[in-house]
Amino acid sequence: MSTEPTARAWVEIDARALRRNLQRLRAEVGDQVALIPMVKADAYGLGASEAVRALEPEAPAGWGVATVDEGLALRAMGVVRPIYVFAPVTHVDLSRALRGGLIPTLSNLHDVDAWIQAQGGSSEAPFSVEIDTGMGRAGFPAAGVAAWAPQILARIGATGPGVAAVGATGSASRGLGWLGVFTHLHSADEPGLKGSATVHSQISTFRAALAVLDPLCVEARHPRLHRHFANSAAAMRFPEALQEMDAVRPGIFLYGGGVGEGAPEPEAVVAVRARVIRVAKVPPGTPLGYGSTYQSQGQETWATLGIGYGDGVPRALSNRGSVLVRGVRLPIIGRISMDVTVVDSSELGPLEVGEVATLVGASERNRIALSEVAEQAGTIHYEVLTGLTRRLPRVWSHVDSAES
Ligand SMILES: Cc1ncc(COP(=O)(O)O)c(C=O)c1O
Repeated sequence: MSTEPTARAWVEIDARALRRNLQRLRAEVGDQVALIPMVKADAYGLGASEAVRALEPEAPAGWGVATVDEGLALRAMGVVRPIYVFAPVTHVDLSRALRGGLIPTLSNLHDVDAWIQAQGGSSEAPFSVEIDTGMGRAGFPAAGVAAWAPQILARIGATGPGVAAVGATGSASRGLGWLGVFTHLHSADEPGLKGSATVHSQISTFRAALAVLDPLCVEARHPRLHRHFANSAAAMRFPEALQEMDAVRPGIFLYGGGVGEGAPEPEAVVAVRARVIRVAKVPPGTPLGYGSTYQSQGQETWATLGIGYGDGVPRALSNRGSVLVRGVRLPIIGRISMDVTVVDSSELGPLEVGEVATLVGASERNRIALSEVAEQAGTIHYEVLTGLTRRLPRVWSHVDSAES
């Protein structure tokens, strides 16, 4: 546990566990598949610059983000590996992506035109194409591949004089122009049949699109497209489905979030801690918090913690979540406020102001898992992590792999 003496609350991130989760995932998918860790949304709320630094020794094939600003921020940090923007962006942003050397995702022919226009008519800057196999939020329709793929190839001059020009500049080698195609699965972490049936159906739709696309590329003398579909859950639960795929795009598993039934659990990466800032003994019937949704049952001791929904603690944990102090579980009572949360610490006897409570993570021999918090709050662990606000300092340990 961090000693953060001055913070009222903070987030601890264990970079060693982050690296080990990536190594675990790599062992599952095999060495022939490239890793593109997702560091969007500030590495799921934890801090992209440290996440990139921590994972850099693992030599990923690139980094995945969702916005051009996120990609440019990585460039500003000195990141030189490929940066993929795996979500549609506006056409104004395409020009910014080009200037930052980012690899955008194009989802329709207007995007392709805008990307070429941003290059002043050239088409050498790399881009990915998303194929929609059922997610419905982005991408060219899988069913229409025979119609749109030749249009892209024609626009980028993959046939006729374009090939000669491309060849002359050496840019026909993989990595320039139309670089790859990917799809995104909507239910890879769903339990039971629903998950696996839809996963297999999306994958076969993707493969069917590739079966149309590949000969078109051969015919147009365009290099083989880089291909991928797997998020963490698909990589960990269906590694056998990855044959002929070139990469995976893991996010949540790296950051310690479970990916559904049957998959190995990742190591915990994150802990959320807060200090006790007030302790009070209260008589029976004392009302507590906004809406007075809790009254003491008898003589009770209440500990006020310096953390609230303004820090990202889900307000849905009011009157139902718990925290650990000295390894003992204490219930959250009353409504969580913006800045503070109150727990019933009667069971522990007098607490000291300044003692540390754990909202997520380990405390002595006990632990509150991220998934437990998400479930109790009626949400997903992604939202718990990305909801942690900037008010909480991020305290990273072992960022440099040589650190023990
Ligand atoms: C396109 C894309 N690929 C990969 C991921 C990573 O997913 P996960 O965090 O479930 O591994 C995401 C995250 O939402 C995504 O949008």
